[in-house]
Amino acid sequence: MKFLPALTLSIALCCPALRAQEAAKARYLDPAVSVDERVEDLLPRLTLEEKLGLIHADSKFSTAGVPRLGIPKMWMSDGPHGVREEISLNSWRPAGRTDDFVTWMPASILLASTWNPELGMAYGGVIADEARMRNKHIMLGPGVNIQRTPLNGRTFEYLGEDPWLASRMAIGTIRGMQAGDVAACVKHFAVNNQEVERGRVNVEVDERTLREIYLPAFEAAVREAGVLSFMGAYNKFRGQHCCHNDYLLNKVLKDEWGFRGLVMSDWGGTHTTDEAVRAGLDLEMGSRGAYDDYKLARSFREGIERGEYPMALLDDKVRRCLRVLFAIKGVDGRPAGSQNTRAHQATARKVAEEGMVLLKNANALLPLDLTKIKRIAVIGDNAVRTQAHGGQSSEIKAFYEITPLAGLLAHVDGRADITHSLGVLAPKYRRLEALTYDVTGAAQTNEEPAPAPESTLNPAELADRAVAAAKEADVVIFVAGLNHERHNDTESSDRLSLELPYGQPELIARITAVNPRTVVVLVAGSPVAMDPWLEKVPAVLQAWYAGMEGGNVLASILFGDINPSGRLPCTFPRKLTDNPAHASGLARHYPGEAGTVHYDEGLLVGYRWNDAKNVEPLFPFGYGLSYTTFDYSGLKIAAGGDAGALATVELEVSNTGARAGAEVVQVYLEPVAPAVPRPVQELKGFAKVLLQPGEKRTVRIPLGARAFSYYSVERKAWVADAGEYRINVGHSSRELKVRGAFKLTTAVETR
Ligand code: GLC
Repeated sequence: MKFLPALTLSIALCCPALRAQEAAKARYLDPAVSVDERVEDLLPRLTLEEKLGLIHADSKFSTAGVPRLGIPKMWMSDGPHGVREEISLNSWRPAGRTDDFVTWMPASILLASTWNPELGMAYGGVIADEARMRNKHIMLGPGVNIQRTPLNGRTFEYLGEDPWLASRMAIGTIRGMQAGDVAACVKHFAVNNQEVERGRVNVEVDERTLREIYLPAFEAAVREAGVLSFMGAYNKFRGQHCCHNDYLLNKVLKDEWGFRGLVMSDWGGTHTTDEAVRAGLDLEMGSRGAYDDYKLARSFREGIERGEYPMALLDDKVRRCLRVLFAIKGVDGRPAGSQNTRAHQATARKVAEEGMVLLKNANALLPLDLTKIKRIAVIGDNAVRTQAHGGQSSEIKAFYEITPLAGLLAHVDGRADITHSLGVLAPKYRRLEALTYDVTGAAQTNEEPAPAPESTLNPAELADRAVAAAKEADVVIFVAGLNHERHNDTESSDRLSLELPYGQPELIARITAVNPRTVVVLVAGSPVAMDPWLEKVPAVLQAWYAGMEGGNVLASILFGDINPSGRLPCTFPRKLTDNPAHASGLARHYPGEAGTVHYDEGLLVGYRWNDAKNVEPLFPFGYGLSYTTFDYSGLKIAAGGDAGALATVELEVSNTGARAGAEVVQVYLEPVAPAVPRPVQELKGFAKVLLQPGEKRTVRIPLGARAFSYYSVERKAWVADAGEYRINVGHSSRELKVRGAFKLTTAVETR
């Protein structure tokens, strides 16, 4: 009988002496044994029911363990920006806890704007510490989907438009998390680049574009970061749902990349038993109905009992889930976690400091000199709006959130008068209001909040009041942008335009007409249009959603304590039709026609489009100003280098200004007369260096074979053709300071 071992074991475990002896013998419980050996020792001890219990949810965010064998439930939590508030076991209602106020980290797009993978490590480490504190085994992030359209509601949750930058930042975050005994879950695999019709839209993209643009960050997560889990995307790819997509999950992820961890579905992303069983899904989460109604529950069991599915299919899924649990010491007991420590908050602050991007600073209006300012008019809904508790699954119940106004008040500290005017009327669903820290839990009602009272505020009056305040001030700080309301930066909906909402452009124009000393701060998670007000505004700072310390960091940058060093991880287009997904205006290209969206722009995503079509961006990929200046010299390009590099780019970077600052040296590769169509240039290396005034530093950036390669669909390989390559080194994709050339004498093919 196939289940004899389990039967023997269960008899043994009834008698304490035998149980102790049995447990002592059980290799799967010995942390000194390899993960694979532990899995192989445990697997035959499991009954069919126990195996199935490991591969589908038994609550909103957990799977059943096997108590009799000492296997705990596996707990998951959102999300990329911190450990989400506790959700009820079997519904989306908050659990109403008071111990789940946590560190709210800056949004992923701000992390990408730091261009600092080491900060990604630190970021992941904070999340791991706080996840262990809350007994979470898998954190559902990072999100690495490429920014194809700036309208994607989840742009703020991802790492920008470029595969190389997204890969480096993803690797850092994953390594940081998993070093903390918490499994990362890279998502959403794959081509999940819009929220419109996300649950059913079918994406058609050519194989080379898939490989060169949309998969690299996922591939790097496996090959370079050893990510332990994947989350399938809601959408379809080439007609099959991504949560059970044979090509993506079995052929590419598991066979070609050798991924041995688990693939979970997105919540509710599982549609049929047969595909769930055969097309690469290992763990079904969030489906509708009772847990035994899940596709990988009763219907799978019945299929096995009918002999339709070999036990090997189930065992492979179980192995993958157990590997993750053992790999993070989930059975052995992990180091204690920590929550809301000053160290975590300091990391949140450091990331924000390095990720805000100074976009304009005419006549060096910034940094502001407080000794010459008596009155500051702060304007905007985003000056006082809390953002943590919004955006849906990436929402965080922040232990605290320093709003821009709070940060400015604290920094100015009475040395100047500060007024605040809302200026605009931005709707706010009470659910999104900050849940202030309240140990009594009074704020944690589960009752649906009463609808917000009809606003007594009249938009015209608000605007007039703001203009009047601006007129009286020495300087105006207009905190504009977006928020996490529907059709802003949020899951489940895309933005409807590139424009700033709520009449902000018009108000900015009125404000600058009465006070030209106006700084616009953009609190937003995706690019916004700035014409025509930009020309009238001397200074613009892209603050993104900057986490719980955001207001303090904003003040530190505006008043010069911190020198901004962020660089854009995405192109800011002048108008929406400058973006490749919208250039044609055809539904076929966005948001899809007859249920299918076609990525006809192919490789020309982001700056690749601007370069190929000669479209001047509002602000280019990689752009960002500093309060100091830098110079590049002594470019050398040598063959070979560390870790099998084909070439090494070396140059001197100098800080030619009067204050310390960090520069992001960016290396773009430009094939000369390539044998196949290729983007004009592509980012293939970067380095961030902090330099004191007058300091000069040698920077070396290796270029591996992949840096020179395109993906050959015919040869199913990465091909670096022999030939000439220009090496463009710059401060952004459009500010190339020094150029060199490199001749690859022998073609290189890699897989
Ligand atoms: C959501 C999201 C996913 C999240 C999951 C659990 O729908 O797409 O990113 O991790 O459900 O909340």
